[in-house]
Amino acid sequence: MIAESSSVMHSWCIQADWNAPTIVGGEGARFWDESGHTYIDMSSLAECMNLGHQHPRLIRAIQEQAQSLCFVNSSWGAAPRAALAEQLLAVAGFAGGRVFFTLGGADANEHAVKFARQASARPLGKIIARDRSYHGASYATMALSGDSRTRNQNEEAFGVLRVPPPYAYRCPFGSASDAECAERNVAHIGSVIEQAGARNVAAVLMEPNAGTNGIIAPDGFWPALREQCHQHDVYLIADEVMSGFGRCGEWFAWQEHGDAGRPDLMTLAKGLTGAHIPLGAVVLAKHVADKLEHQMLNTGLTYCGHPLACAAGVAAIATYRDENLIERSRQLGARMLQRLRVMQEHHAVIGDVRAAKGLFAIVELVKDRNTREPLAPWPTAHPSMARFVTMGRERGVSFAVRGNLIILAPPLVIGENEFERALDTMNALLRELDWT
Ligand SMILES: Cc1ncc(COP(=O)(O)O)c(C=O)c1O
Repeated sequence: MIAESSSVMHSWCIQADWNAPTIVGGEGARFWDESGHTYIDMSSLAECMNLGHQHPRLIRAIQEQAQSLCFVNSSWGAAPRAALAEQLLAVAGFAGGRVFFTLGGADANEHAVKFARQASARPLGKIIARDRSYHGASYATMALSGDSRTRNQNEEAFGVLRVPPPYAYRCPFGSASDAECAERNVAHIGSVIEQAGARNVAAVLMEPNAGTNGIIAPDGFWPALREQCHQHDVYLIADEVMSGFGRCGEWFAWQEHGDAGRPDLMTLAKGLTGAHIPLGAVVLAKHVADKLEHQMLNTGLTYCGHPLACAAGVAAIATYRDENLIERSRQLGARMLQRLRVMQEHHAVIGDVRAAKGLFAIVELVKDRNTREPLAPWPTAHPSMARFVTMGRERGVSFAVRGNLIILAPPLVIGENEFERALDTMNALLRELDWT
């Protein structure tokens, strides 16, 4: 096996420090390295392998499509592209809308912003985005992201207006409850829109729920934000790149609120093909698509709606449905939350446990539970966090951490024994490691 430590440029790390085993195979919620060591995947790698590793139905769909037609560009029709667009509009309940396909999440968000500006006839319209969010690593999406890794990336040039996050555990507005935090946060967004002048704002772009910056919005936040945007005639773009496809117990996280949560545009990637092949999408509601129907669309990507990727997307939707995975995510998610709450009773280092309505939870570690003093200032990490990851790997579980957050997002197909074993390992590591 060729070592890749010196030749490949790796993401989000210091190149000279990169050191990781080479992964050679996987099945369901497990993958293994070249030495045969197996890992239970508690983060779906980058929160994207919702269907697990090497799902046979996805592999078959890609193989069959490859045999009939690998590529056709957007000047021509392609059956898998049309099929996937129709199915996405159907599961989203966006009848009469349109879908623009991209290669991943960042370019989906970039295009959603372009479409929102064009459809609102506010070509220089501001985009309101929050702190502690992540929308991608292209230049515009770095500016849109409120992420410590990409802070100060020329927000002004990209027309970004920054607002605080709906972070009830440490509410930026000093609220005493989740409901109050949601209310004050949304009221603040309203005042930012008014200050800028609603006609100068093209959209609010936010993750409805879930995200590696550790925010799980309080229950009333998203529908209140929806209403705020309506009142000011500003589009709401839901970044469902991570929260979609069962991760939050619904096809799309906003659906938890029914029509009261319905965005004007939403962006997808990751679970769209369960990461078996790269694909992203912008889904436009009918009233937005209608505005663009007779205007020139000055954008495109060579690989828009690549047939191999769209065939995988069609197979992915059938798999979520036939294997009842959205419902399974809700059920296992509730169990995961229950187990994490029990861990919280036993480990003083756990300050907060928050979860979406599916298989996504954040465990926030603190120095002092009463004062909520962070274990280390965000986004730095306590030294035991790195040990937590290394020892987890040694014991056959792959955990994702960020600062002092443990991010739990296993594949929706995870077996019950694997799931319990991984949580037992987490419990043991929290007990054994020194958090002082
Ligand atoms: C919420 C969210 N939006 C956008 C992105 C960017 O997606 P990609 O890495 O496919 O460009 C991510 C990636 O982690 C994400 O979590």
